[in-house]
Amino acid sequence: MIYNEQKQELGKIAADMRHMSYIPYSHYAVGAALLTKSGKIYTGCNIENAAFPVTICAERTAIFKAISEGEKDFAAIAIATEDGLGYPCGSCRQVMSEFSSNMEVMLADADGNITVETNINELLPGAFTADKLLTR
Ligand code: THU
Repeated sequence: MIYNEQKQELGKIAADMRHMSYIPYSHYAVGAALLTKSGKIYTGCNIENAAFPVTICAERTAIFKAISEGEKDFAAIAIATEDGLGYPCGSCRQVMSEFSSNMEVMLADADGNITVETNINELLPGAFTADKLLTR
């Protein structure tokens, strides 16, 4: 559960992060702002590569930055695209579900306005999770 002000702040930061995107191929800018349960915000943008599959999404950039700093519990992520309807791809949903089964996911538009509020359970029902492996 996060406050409305925090949601709006995340939306604005995600929208600002679109300016950092490295997108010479798609020209599709995505920004992300990830709020940890400890109250820190990690940012991300999409980073493309001439070898297309090497491209990394904005959401995973933010999540991997946070993980590499020792953070693993996430409260929410805002994802900003031009039209505010840039849903996270399947790989990003899987990575989100690895770390936070109940994290809130917000979409935002280019001005940072929140357009959609959902959560990872709704976006990836029946996710494949660590408990399948750790009980063996
Ligand atoms: N992209 C993201 O950053 N996040 C997603 O969840 C979907 C796709 C980026 C990757 C690539 O740079 C561009 O959008 C087009 O696929």
